[in-house]
Amino acid sequence: MCGIVGYHGPRETAAVLIEGLKRLEYRGYDSAGISVLAEDGLKTVKRAGKIKVLQEALQDGLQGRCGIGHTRWATHGEVSEANAHPHMDASGEFSVVHNGIIENCEALRERLQLDGVKFQSQTDSEVIVHLIAKLYRESLEQAVRDTLYMLKGTYGIAVMTSREPGKIVGARYGSPLVLGIGDGEILLASDVTALLAYTRQAVYLQDGEMVIIDDTGYKTRDFHDRIVKKQIELIDWELEQIERLGYRHYMEKEIREQPDAVRRALGGRIDREACSAHLGGLELTPQQLRSIERIRVIAAGTSYHAGMVGGYLIEQIAGIPSFTEIASEIRYRNPVVEPNSLYIAVSQSGETADTLSAMRELRRKGAKVLGMCNVVGSTIARESDGGVYLHSGPEIAVASTKAFTSQLSIFYLLALLFARMHHYSIADGQSFIADLQRIPEQISEILQRSEAIRELAGRYAGYGSMLFLGRGLQYPVALEGALKLKEISYIHAEGCSAAEIKHGPIALVGPDVPCVFLAPDDSLREKSISNMMEVKSRHGRVIAVVTEGDREIEAIADDVIPVPRTSGIMYPFLTVVPLQLFSYYCALERGCDVDQPRNLAKSVTVE
Ligand code: F6R
Repeated sequence: MCGIVGYHGPRETAAVLIEGLKRLEYRGYDSAGISVLAEDGLKTVKRAGKIKVLQEALQDGLQGRCGIGHTRWATHGEVSEANAHPHMDASGEFSVVHNGIIENCEALRERLQLDGVKFQSQTDSEVIVHLIAKLYRESLEQAVRDTLYMLKGTYGIAVMTSREPGKIVGARYGSPLVLGIGDGEILLASDVTALLAYTRQAVYLQDGEMVIIDDTGYKTRDFHDRIVKKQIELIDWELEQIERLGYRHYMEKEIREQPDAVRRALGGRIDREACSAHLGGLELTPQQLRSIERIRVIAAGTSYHAGMVGGYLIEQIAGIPSFTEIASEIRYRNPVVEPNSLYIAVSQSGETADTLSAMRELRRKGAKVLGMCNVVGSTIARESDGGVYLHSGPEIAVASTKAFTSQLSIFYLLALLFARMHHYSIADGQSFIADLQRIPEQISEILQRSEAIRELAGRYAGYGSMLFLGRGLQYPVALEGALKLKEISYIHAEGCSAAEIKHGPIALVGPDVPCVFLAPDDSLREKSISNMMEVKSRHGRVIAVVTEGDREIEAIADDVIPVPRTSGIMYPFLTVVPLQLFSYYCALERGCDVDQPRNLAKSVTVE
């Protein structure tokens, strides 16, 4: 999704903006631009395509003491230079970058056109700059505030004018903005990764807040011009965590970081004495936890799949009815909030618009919603009633991998906590903990065998379609495997319950559609073997992810991917990793842009 960077300080502004925009590349974008305040007014350069195209256009240099920049992910209007941000007014005195969507842009555009304004782009964002120019009297701050009153929708904006040299005004409503406070310099960004090269001190703006940056420093106000006192917070990520560190792609790095990510997610949260878990941020007393009668998980994409595993597991071992639902569906179906229900909003970024909106709707109706996020200070983390951080470190690749296994880790801890409050014995708790603590080492073992998966991917990357099949806890893993393959390699893939194929998808089965079965040694293995036989009798090729040494499935399947032995309920951690590697190597084989797959964005901040 779109990214914003602003800079005020002594460094070469254009270079800082470009560096910041590069840090935001991972979010997905299709054009980029910057405006810099030079001696003779605002200078704006923008280009469709990658940031290096913009950089080439800037080769003659663009000198200035402050500036704003943007990466655009097209929503209103095609990918073009005209539609790229920053947008300028006709006089060239005002410049605006915008993340989000202006819902009443058509009405505003018509009104401005009646006043003679000529639009240069098809974007919703351009109305903002024309409104600011029109409403400007003596202060940029006032013009921005008057404009915000007229906007419906969501926005994070940064604005400059040559009439007030050295000033940047930012405002947030529904789209993140964070200030970076450096030594004699101030940055503004939509994402902390753009700040890390300069500072780790951050001030997070909330919805309805503005910031005014000038030569004297910065001040924060609400939309009614009241002073808002903000804390400076320390960003707990290191710069090197957002570097590729010799890996060809962030996705590969993040797949390989999983043993450590799982260790961090579990770290300090296992209570050996009680054979249970303690999750500090839940903000629930043991009595409140015991009174929970049902759990509802809300999430999108990969986080939804992790939530499905979590829901199945909690119901299975703790006996609490649990259900996982796609966040975008909840919001518009007028959900009923039942008493004694606990809602868990799962989101790596903590900014996904669908999940955030669903969470707000549920809370409006009295629900207690916990957040399970990776990004500290993100909107879902801040607005939830309590929550748990993943501590996976920054996830930069668009395709989510380490966040998934970290989310599983937290769900397994939650399940253990609830199970121990209900009918899990001390011995059950002990063996659960022992199995869980072996997981990072077992993931490492799988990663060490990645060459075999690369070879396998080499043989399957040419297929046009694949089915991923699993049952029980392996069903969400099958969905995740299919999602990973399609998003980065563009091979069509469908995830199904292995039992469900006979109700339709089996019509696709044949030599041209390989089936990836998740069939580790759990309680549903025998059933999966029957489904495998159904595929084999229709001349379908079978790749099976199995527990090592499973000779029976080895004899049936065309190819097997072995994973180490664990207890039945722990397998989702182990079966998902080969699927991530398989997708990664298929994408490499097909020459795809692994870290920035087409049309996708990392943090989906629009509905
Ligand atoms: C898939 C992927 C997406 C995200 C989804 C939710 O690899 O990354 O499906 O999982 O957009 O994002 P978060 O977890 O940030 O809410």
